[in-house]
This record gives sequence, structure tokens and C-alpha cells, in this order.
Amino acid sequence: MFDCFNRKINYLRISVTDRCNLRCTYCMPAEGVKMLARKDILSFDEILEVVDYGVKNGITKVRITGGEPLVRKGIVSLISQIALYKEIEDLAMTTNAILLPEFADDLVKAGLQRVNISLDTLNEENFNKTTRIGDLNAVLRGIEVAKKAGLNPIKLNCVIKKSSDSSDAQTVAKFAKKNAFEVRFIPEMNLGKGEFGIVEGGDGGNCSICNRLRLTANGQLKPCLFNDLSYNIRQLGVQQAYNNALGNKPLTGQKNKTGNFYNIGG
Ligand code: 5AD
Ligand code: SF4
Repeated sequence: MFDCFNRKINYLRISVTDRCNLRCTYCMPAEGVKMLARKDILSFDEILEVVDYGVKNGITKVRITGGEPLVRKGIVSLISQIALYKEIEDLAMTTNAILLPEFADDLVKAGLQRVNISLDTLNEENFNKTTRIGDLNAVLRGIEVAKKAGLNPIKLNCVIKKSSDSSDAQTVAKFAKKNAFEVRFIPEMNLGKGEFGIVEGGDGGNCSICNRLRLTANGQLKPCLFNDLSYNIRQLGVQQAYNNALGNKPLTGQKNKTGNFYNIGG
């Protein structure tokens, strides 16, 4: 499928929950957030309907995000059903790795190919500050398990404040090199203020080659992270939601006053 600016769309990012077992400062407010009501969260069948239509119309790459996708009950079963689509060449997940020791082997069996893991620092104090309730050692254990399980290539998502020269970013880069992981430096963004930048080592934030659509946990199909536009699959039906998202995908990102990273997916 192609959008209104003739960009080829082949990448669907699916947020399966707005919940998370961390509280990163750049993602969630300190006081916590009002979570979606259970009835508003898409069922697996509804998610699969969106995948089915997408795959039959050119989606070849799917990423599962959140919140933290591994806190969604039954996530392994959802992955195994998505993995049945042979058209999907790349099936990946973005996770904070905390629950990987529990899930990695089952995820591989289900057909997950690889993971991107959020890791901004290897300094425990800085990690605690950023994630508020995190345990760096749990993340490191999760990364180790992902490696053993073969969820390759493992990519580290490293959010940077200003530049990748910071000592936090440089230590993550060194750690990545030592373990043969890839690292992507993601400038800290502010959706509401329209502050976003190009991801170093990835394609995110590069509007002219943007190939993605996003599905939120509550069924909004979004053509752009940096825009309020969204099309509800329950109200419109899957096909119409796709058509609207493709037909209205903005040329470039601007501002998003209504959405947040924790419910749209990073
Ligand atoms: N700026 C940039 N990236 C963010 N993420 C979450 N919030 C932000 C933000 N404000 C991304 C990070 C993290 C993933 C889960 O979401 O890349 O690794
Ligand atoms: Fe959770 Fe990721 Fe947001 Fe941190 S950035 S609070 S790990 S969803």
C-alpha cells in the first residue's frame, strides 16, 4: 500500500498495552497515568484483523510495542498467531527486557525473530533516576537471556538528551560493541512541543522515507507519531481506518497534543 505522498507503507507497529513495569521520565509523568479501561483495549482477534488486512495489502514488517508488551497477558499466543503470516519477513518487539528471562524462549518458539531493548545507561544511579522504579541488573539479565535465545540482531535503544557523546551513551555503545549488539541513539522527543529528531542508526524520525503505520492498544490507527490524527478501527472498520490513515498521512511530523509514547509505542 501507498500513502497520499506515494510513500510505500510496509511497516505496522502494534502497541498491545499502555501499561509498563517502568516509569521512564521521558515517557510517563511522575504521578503515573490514567490507564485505559479494559473494554477499550483491543482483543487479540481485533489486533489480528488489523494484521490480516495489513499483510494482505503489503505489510511485511511488524513490531510489537507498548507500554511494555511483555506485561500484556497472553502475549506469546498473540505472537504465535501473528507469526503464522508468512508474508511477514520481520517480526520484532521493543521491550525493556525485564520480563525476558521469563519469556524469551517461548517468544522464539512462537516465532518472534528479534528484539530492540531500551537501554539508556549502564550507570545504576542514572538508570534508577530515568526509570524511577527499574532494576538495571534485571535488564542486563534480560539482555543476556535474549542473546542466548537467539533474538538477533539485538538492537539497543538508547535515548539521548543532547548528543551521543554523553558518557551514558558512550558506555552503552561500548557495551553494544563488546556483545555484537547494534545501538540506536534516539534523541529525547517531546510530542506535545513537536520536538523530534532523526534516530541515529535507524529510520525513525525521517519523514521522507517513513513507511509505517501505528496501531494503539485501544484501536486507533495512527499515520504519524507526531500528529493527532487517528482512526478508530472499531468505529470505522479496519479497511476504512487503513484508507483514512493512508490518505491522511502527513508529509512531515508536527505536534501531537493527544498521544504519548506509553500508549502509541516508541
Ligand atoms: N523520546 C524518545 N524516545 C522515547 N521513547 C519513549 N519515550 C520517548 C521520548 N520522549 C522510546 C524509547 C524507548 C521506547 C520504549 O520508547 O526508544 O526505548
Ligand atoms: Fe516503559 Fe518504555 Fe515508557 Fe520506559 S520508555 S516507561 S520502559 S514504555
